[in-house]
Order: sequence, then structure tokens, then C-alpha cells
Amino acid sequence: MESSLPSTQILDSGESAERKNEAKNYNEVMSTLPKVKGLNGCDYYLYQCFWYDPSFLEGIMSVQERFNPQSTDIFLASFPKTGTTWLKALTFAICTRSRLSGSTTSSLLSKMPHDCVPFMEYDLAQNPSNRDLAIPLVSTHVPYTCLPKSIISSCCKIIYICRDAKDVFVSLWYFLARLQMSENVEPLLLEEAFELFCNGIANFGPYWNHVLGYWRASLEFPEKILFLTYEEMKKDTAAHVKKLAEFMGCSFTLEEEEEGEVQKIIGMCSFEKLSNLEVNKNGKCLLDISIPIPNSIYFRKGEIGDWANHLTPEMGARLDDIMERKLKGSGLKLPR
Ligand code: A3P
Repeated sequence: MESSLPSTQILDSGESAERKNEAKNYNEVMSTLPKVKGLNGCDYYLYQCFWYDPSFLEGIMSVQERFNPQSTDIFLASFPKTGTTWLKALTFAICTRSRLSGSTTSSLLSKMPHDCVPFMEYDLAQNPSNRDLAIPLVSTHVPYTCLPKSIISSCCKIIYICRDAKDVFVSLWYFLARLQMSENVEPLLLEEAFELFCNGIANFGPYWNHVLGYWRASLEFPEKILFLTYEEMKKDTAAHVKKLAEFMGCSFTLEEEEEGEVQKIIGMCSFEKLSNLEVNKNGKCLLDISIPIPNSIYFRKGEIGDWANHLTPEMGARLDDIMERKLKGSGLKLPR
């Protein structure tokens, strides 16, 4: 009799035993990790010097064990709320533009960017083939030092985006608050969450160590790692779209530039365009596996400096001071 399970869910007995072993190892490791109350009110666990919400940790351990990139893969790396959705949309539009008149780029019109570019530690952790192999993009929030060794030792390129810590915190607080309210859970007070964030406690945090890991790697391997900031990308999007295309090995031709291809991509991926699409206004995605997340919470304001409407000048100065001290000596100065 034929199984009613989709083929991707059918595991042979060897594979199933391996997964059971992994689950056992995961539970054993988890029981030894330090934990603390996190920004969403649940416990976060300290694993390899970074804090994690446990719903992501199993996927991270799993990819560390057995994720193998394709040699042509390009990884989009980021700390949550630094511009991941925008970077996914831009890179997807850039590398699929030859099919502009076909269905691929226009899939940004009907699919939210997270459904166009898979997350390594969520979408591909259980099923690495859960992707369109013709599109060489994979995204990740995993810190550089915790990436699978198979990626570090590969020749795969990495594009990293980061952002002013104050805007990251405000964006993150609103995101978690909206998520929690949709589950009828009272969100943490902004002041309480701020205290945690300043102490480095955030999913994939401390934020500064996430940034520093990719910064140092980009200095060591400049041809392999492109380090970007949300603010610079906002200020001159056209120059960054061209830079991204060049880095990804698909530069714009003169003809394309003359035909306005760069501007078309910028317009297609703009906050205004994406946030007003039906799929992003009313659709849901299953990023967190357990609950469907409204796509609209990935699009809030898309502005630089909105922190000033939510944090006091003292809170802003405190976070600036922390970032300055943590980044001191690294040669990196993030825009404020
Ligand atoms: P704000 O909350 O400050 O508005 P991530 O994609 O990493 O989750 O980051 C989310 C942040 O990026 C949110 O910031 C969101 O509004 C902003 N954003 C989403 N899409 C964008 C786009 N197309 N252009 C610019 N910013 C965008």
C-alpha cells in the first residue's frame, strides 16, 4: 500500500534512528545549558556564547551537525529585525531578474520574501531539500562563530546586514509584542525588555557579538563576506543594489541599467510596495513552526531613527554607550 505521507516525510529506519538520537542528544545538551527569562517571557538558553529561544535551538544544533551547502549558495545573514526581509526581497529580485517577465520575480507579488528565500535553521533543518535549487539564496540568523563548519570551510559567499542597535531593539520589541498579543499573552514592558537587551539577552544575542562575528570575518575574507548596514542601504539603495549584484556574480549590464532595471527592483522591493501587497497585508507564514505568524508584522515602519519615538534620550545614550564600548578597537562604527 502506498504511504499517505509526502515523500519528504518518509524516513528510512536508519535515518529515523539518527533523528531519534539527535533528539536525545538535544535534550541532554539542553538540560546542561544556563537559562534566563527572555524577551518573550519564555526561557532563553545560552549555547556557544549566544542566547536562544529553545524553539530555534534544535534546528541550529541540527544544521551544525549535518547541513551541507551547495558550492554556489549565497547566505543572507542577519540578527532579527535588522532588515532581513528587505535583503531577501532585493537579492531574490536581483538574482531572478532574467526571468522578470516570467513567474519567478513576480512571485514576490504573491509570496512574502521569507517564503521566497528559506531560513537554514528553520526551513532546511529537518528537510534540506525544502528549497528551489535554482535559487542560490539561503538565509540565517545564526552567529558567524556558530555557523555549520561546512559553510565556514566552503567558498560560499555571505551577505550580512546590521542596523543601529536602538532601532533593532524597538523593532524587536514591537514584533514580539504583536506576536504575543496574537497569542493572548501579555508582552513584557518595553523598559523590562530594554534592560534584558542591554544585558545581551535576545534571541541570537548579544547583538554586539553577532555583529562583531560577521564584521571580523568580513575583514578576514572580504571577497567572501559583504558587510552592509540598513542605514547605508536606505540612503543609497541604487548603489547597494548594484553592489549586491556584483558581489553575487550577476552584475547589471549597461543595457539593463539604461532600461531602468535597478530602479524597477528598488521599487518592487520598497517598503511601500511590499507592505501594501495583499499577501503581506493579510497572509500568514509558518516561520515559527508552531503558530502561523501574520506577514504584516514584518512590515512596521521601515524608517531610520524611529527609536526616538519610543525610547527616552537616556535609554538611547545608554545603548549607544554599550555599543561603542563593545565595538571599541574593532574598527567598526555603526550608523546612529
Ligand atoms: P521597523 O520595525 O523599524 O519598521 P527583519 O526583516 O530583519 O525582521 O527587520 C524588520 C524591519 O525591517 C522592520 O523595521 C520592518 O519595517 C523593516 N522592513 C521590512 N521590509 C522592508 C523594506 N522593504 N524596506 C525597508 N525596511 C523594511
